[in-house]
Amino acid sequence: MGSISSSTTASDGLGPLFNTRSCNNCHINNGRGHAPEANINGISVPSFLIRLGKSYPNQNTPSNHVYPHIGDKTYGHQFQSQSTTGISPEGDYYLTYQTHTEVLSDGTKIELRKPQLHWRTLHYGNFEESTGFTMLASPALVGMGLLDSIPDKSILANADPNDSNNDGISGRVNWLDEEQTVIGRFGYKASVETVDQQNQSAFHTDLGLSTPLNPTASGDCTSRQRDCLNSPNGNSSHLDNLEVDEQQMRLVDLFVSLSSPPAMRNLKTTAFLEGKRVFDAAGCAGCHTPKMKTGNDSPLKALNNRTFYPFTDLLLHDMGPELASGFPSFSASPSEWRTASLWGLGLSEQISGRSGFLHDGRARNIEEAILWHGGEATSSQRHFKALTRENRQKLIFFLESL
Ligand code: HEC
Ligand code: HEC
Repeated sequence: MGSISSSTTASDGLGPLFNTRSCNNCHINNGRGHAPEANINGISVPSFLIRLGKSYPNQNTPSNHVYPHIGDKTYGHQFQSQSTTGISPEGDYYLTYQTHTEVLSDGTKIELRKPQLHWRTLHYGNFEESTGFTMLASPALVGMGLLDSIPDKSILANADPNDSNNDGISGRVNWLDEEQTVIGRFGYKASVETVDQQNQSAFHTDLGLSTPLNPTASGDCTSRQRDCLNSPNGNSSHLDNLEVDEQQMRLVDLFVSLSSPPAMRNLKTTAFLEGKRVFDAAGCAGCHTPKMKTGNDSPLKALNNRTFYPFTDLLLHDMGPELASGFPSFSASPSEWRTASLWGLGLSEQISGRSGFLHDGRARNIEEAILWHGGEATSSQRHFKALTRENRQKLIFFLESL
């Protein structure tokens, strides 16, 4: 990110509690982050974070019930291991990994690892009994404006909440309200409506900066964190009594909205075309919708009437218990996730140095990511396991070219 508010010093209002000092520490070069290796301090990997939320009875049944985000009474909505001088950070954690091995039909063995969360220090006492934890590695930030500009009706056209076409895949919209008028698109569970809202909440929760939609300068401090609430802040009269004002928001929104996905590569090669055939035959496109089109009412003219290739339907799919989060998010149950876009997959490591796949970065490469697919994606996963080595390589070549 440029110099505008994306990289902060203590004097401009950062914190009091924060995860890291800039958007770029998590969305590395607009690319993705990764998960901490086993036993190292979580604080040393800023691109990974832990969300806190209420778990509910019956939350595992996908339904149209809307579960709002209610944070922990003491720690709030997100765990912050960093703080400004004089304020205690929330603590630190580490991960260990539970491993198991999947054997493909041709005998190839692939070890999968699942992160387990452990608290090392908790500086404000215990969590509430009902608090659940969701681990997230930062996603890449490309094509956000394009996804923002898809008309609602195009998203709804792909939804099949009751699987009435009987293909085992039932994409659901994450409705953010009971009346089913507001569609969520951003975040791993599609729990945020617009890029602007997502950016504003990132400033507030990740960096501890106030914005027009979140005007309190104390970020994610709770009423049980008095020192944090009462510490000096950077709300300034020349910024409409905020730390990040409307004008700065517009610039960040513009940057995030117009950062474009990489162009597809190797399009004309036989391996790409054959890989695409394997992708289709495995049913991947049932969720990873190749092509989308924007509408024509974006104030950013460059985003209007664009056909593009995100490989996502922006819908929620049940991915099975192994991938489940610690709490639901609006209409998304713990095991439901928004179909991940696949653009730029093959460039991930080049862009951010190292990277992980899936919401918590557990997958170290694309094969592992596919093998974790369960729930509605079980038959795709089985298809993948049964591929010949040659077809598997073509599929990966195709995916790495997107
Ligand atoms: C501490 C790491 C961290 C920082 C700092 C951070 N983000 Fe994020 N960002 C994430 C994670 C994790 C997600 C996924 C959130 C979710 O699923 O709810 C995310 C999601 C997003 C998304 C939505 C991506 C998508 O595919 O839907 C946008 C846009 C975004 N961040 C913008 C920003 C901006 C702008 C900043 C700086 C003001 C920022 N982020 C700072 C970790 C971070
Ligand atoms: C039922 C819907 C569904 C099907 C079918 C499906 N996927 Fe996915 N895919 C998802 C969802 C949802 C995620 C995100 C899961 C998460 O983050 O935990 C995902 C994630 C991925 C990722 C990781 C992307 C990233 O950025 O981390 C890859 C790679 C992927 N899918 C490839 C495939 C391939 C290849 C196939 C076919 C063999 C396939 N998927 C079939 C829904 C599906």
